[in-house]
Amino acid sequence: MIRPMARRRTILSVVGTRPNFMKIAPIAAAIARRDDGLEHVLVHTGQHYDAAMSDVFFAELGVGEPDHKLEVGAGTHAQTTGRVMERLEPLLEELRPDVVLVPGDVNSALAAALVASKLGLTLGHVEAGLRSFDRTMPEEVNRVVVDAVSDLLFIHSPEARDHLRTEGCADERVHYVGNTMIDTLAAMRERIDGNPVVGELGLADRGYLVVTLHRPALVDGPLLRDAVEALQDVAASMPVVFPVHPRTRARIAAAGIELDADGPLRLFEPLGYLDFLALVARSAGVLTDSGGIQEETTYLGVPCLTLRDNTERPVTVELGTNVLLGLDPRRIREAPALIEQVRGRQAQVPPLWDGQAAGRIVDVLAAL
Ligand code: UD1
Repeated sequence: MIRPMARRRTILSVVGTRPNFMKIAPIAAAIARRDDGLEHVLVHTGQHYDAAMSDVFFAELGVGEPDHKLEVGAGTHAQTTGRVMERLEPLLEELRPDVVLVPGDVNSALAAALVASKLGLTLGHVEAGLRSFDRTMPEEVNRVVVDAVSDLLFIHSPEARDHLRTEGCADERVHYVGNTMIDTLAAMRERIDGNPVVGELGLADRGYLVVTLHRPALVDGPLLRDAVEALQDVAASMPVVFPVHPRTRARIAAAGIELDADGPLRLFEPLGYLDFLALVARSAGVLTDSGGIQEETTYLGVPCLTLRDNTERPVTVELGTNVLLGLDPRRIREAPALIEQVRGRQAQVPPLWDGQAAGRIVDVLAAL
């Protein structure tokens, strides 16, 4: 029988910020490794543009340079979202990919989802169904909208399915595949374990606290000063290592908060992926308001104290090593004691956080 040659199908992913890169990298790698007649095209919106927030990740994660860069830069939510939409629309019209993938909940994902959906393209959301039920978080609005317009909803924990059902998403659209951010971590584990950063900084294994804070609810108002003061108190008894997000750096400067980079509270520029995960993996614990770090610490079995009132990742509290402190900087002073408590817990890695999620996504894409 003579069969016409199968057309290669194009999967186009849109990334924009630091946590997006780790979520898409293993999908790009799985498509390249396998022979499903798929090809991957990577578009970087440029929402994160500093080298330390962006370029370093492409270099370390082995995804190669993006095929297209939209270079939207910083702005208000509307400006970032609008610029991505304007610049992405002609590109998607030209390429007409078979599937557009967007990861996570950032403004770039929202913008790309709206454009792809209105062009009638098949849209897949990686990390669908997470909900904090806090609409004051810009990410929560993005999650709800992206899920509503997505055809393929790739989820990494069972409660996501319930949230999507409640919002009327048909079960056929939902695929429980696991966590692609953990795929990246599992794939990089040897390099993370061999990374010398902890010794280079003169830190002792399990002897220091890693801090990341960047959410508007914390850093854009008076709580930032309280948080820094509490961190200085903790640093008197335990080294505190704080790579500072550009947004937080700008707010510290604007609030006139004086900090000595060589003091016991050690401030750094944002770190690359490998350095950061190496620091986390060998720390006593982490204090954060990030979403992804709650997952990475649960996978690594490292205590995580989350300085927020809620989490869209409750599985990390129920099964993993995460504790919700509330949005209350005074509680930072309890960090050393809380870390000890969490270390005594029987924490587990959630199901399907096994390094194979990207393969399961590509199975779904190949069968379309
Ligand atoms: C974004 C995401 C957030 C994610 C975070 C990870 C949204 C709504 N928020 O927040 O969910 O957890 O990324 O880091 O999309 N800036 C720079 N250089 C950069 C990037 C940012 O200087 O490369 C500064 C700019 O002043 C910018 C500010 O940081 O205005 C905030 O950046 P933005 O991308 O708007 O949001 P993030 O706070 O990074």
